Amino acid sequence: MVQVDERLKHIAFIMDGNGRWAQRRGKPREYGHRFGVETLETVNRYCQKIGLQVVTVYAFSTENWKRPKREVDTIMMLLDQYITKMTRNLKKDQVCYHFIGNLSVLSPKLQERIRQLEELSSQYSLIVNIALNYGGREEIVQCCNRLIAEGKTEITEADISRTLYTAHCCEPDLIVRTGGELRLSNFLMWQSAYSELYFTDVLWPDFSTDDVDAAITAFYSRKRRYGGVVTDADESK
Ligand code: IPE
Ligand code: IPE
Ligand code: MG
Repeated sequence: MVQVDERLKHIAFIMDGNGRWAQRRGKPREYGHRFGVETLETVNRYCQKIGLQVVTVYAFSTENWKRPKREVDTIMMLLDQYITKMTRNLKKDQVCYHFIGNLSVLSPKLQERIRQLEELSSQYSLIVNIALNYGGREEIVQCCNRLIAEGKTEITEADISRTLYTAHCCEPDLIVRTGGELRLSNFLMWQSAYSELYFTDVLWPDFSTDDVDAAITAFYSRKRRYGGVVTDADESK
C-alpha cells in the first residue's frame, strides 16, 4: 500500500472498459457496468485510506446519451442505487460528495436525491466528485454564460476556475484512464492543463488497488515542470 503526500492530492479516474469486460464474458454490456460500480466503491475506499483529499470519477459523459436506451437506463438505475447506498453509508464513510455536470436533464427525483446526498455529506472533508452528464466543453460554455450573466465583459483565468463545476477543489494532479484508450473524451478539459496522465489496458471492472498503486508509483516518477525548469534542489526532494 502506498501513501501519498502533498504532491498528490487529487486523482481523477476515467472508468472505461465495462462494456468490453462484459462482452469478453459473453454477457451484455450492462453486466460490466454492475461490476464497475463495485470497482468504484473499492477504489474510493482505498484512495481515502492512502490519504488522497479528492477523487473524481467520470461516470457518464454528455456524449454517452448516444448509447442504446437500455444501456443508458441501466447506468442511471445503477447510479440511483449507488446514491442510496452512499447515503446510507455516509456516517461510516465520512465522504463529501459533489456531482459535477449538467444535472438539469436528469429526472427530478434523481436530482433531489443527489441534492440531499450533497447536503448531508457537506460536513465531511474528503471529497468525491462524481461526473454525471459531464462534458468539459459543456462545462466551459456554461461557465462563460454564467460570467456573462454576472455582467462581465472581460474575464480572467481565475473567473473561469471559480465558476467551473470543480470550483470547490484543487485541479487533478493525476488522471488515470483504464480500458486502453489514449484520450480524455471531454473530461476536465480546463482542469487537466497540467495533470499527469496515466493510461492502462486494465478494464475498469478488473482495476484493483494494486493498479492504483502502480498509477501512483508512475506519478511519483514524473517531473512536473509546469513549463519551467527543474533545479538540482528540486531533484533531491
Ligand atoms: C464505462 O465503460 C464508461 C461508461 C460510459 C459508463 P464503457 O461502457 O465505455 O466500456 P467500453 O469502453 O465500451 O468497453
Ligand atoms: C468516457 O468513456 C466516458 C466515461 C468513462 C464515463 P467513453 O467510452 O464514453 O469514451 P470514448 O467513446 O471511448 O471516447
Ligand atoms: Mg468506453
